[in-house]
Amino acid sequence: MTKILVTGGGGYVGNVLCRHLLDNGYQVKCIDNFHKGQCDAIIPLATNPNFEFEYGDVTVLEQMKEAVIGCDAIIHLAAIVGFPACKSQPALATEVNVEGTRNMLFARESYNPKMPFVCVHRKRLRQSRRGLHRRVPVKRCVSLRR
Ligand SMILES: NC(=O)c1ccc[n+]([C@@H]2O[C@H](COP(=O)([O-])OP(=O)(O)OC[C@H]3O[C@@H](n4cnc5c(N)ncnc54)[C@H](O)[C@@H]3O)[C@@H](O)[C@H]2O)c1
Repeated sequence: MTKILVTGGGGYVGNVLCRHLLDNGYQVKCIDNFHKGQCDAIIPLATNPNFEFEYGDVTVLEQMKEAVIGCDAIIHLAAIVGFPACKSQPALATEVNVEGTRNMLFARESYNPKMPFVCVHRKRLRQSRRGLHRRVPVKRCVSLRR
């Protein structure tokens, strides 16, 4: 069974996506640090044998290198989302949105460079690509936003 790693799986988009993936026969490994203090949305998924939750932080590369093991694809949603949140915590937003995305790409690269990587925050990824280009090939990145 295909196993999808969903970072930020406890969030607004993530919990719906996790549910959708499970309903469509995928195994799901959800990573989240409940940055906003809310975990209610994924509690109902905990009883599903195909659902696995791991408390993790995308800014910690070693944790993410472990997290990708056994997974077939990554959907990267973990982020500090929205202008007000990014404006009030710019350092954290950069760390999570840029370094976190970079870490996920490094983790993928270390485990399986051919693993599909889906990222919805295209703008931030494009910005972070400047620093990624030389070290991580991001050819297989897929953006859901056009
Ligand atoms: N909500 C929308 O309408 C919408 C539309 C287009 C794109 N997006 C994109 O989808 C993604 C998710 O958006 P959302 O609305 O679900 O946001 P959200 O804030 O509800 O979810 C983000 C999740 O990431 C987690 N997170 C934050 N920092 C983390 C860290 N260091 N390590 C692990 N997890 C961490 C948070 O705890 C949260 O559960 C974002 O990239 C956003 O830009 C959202």
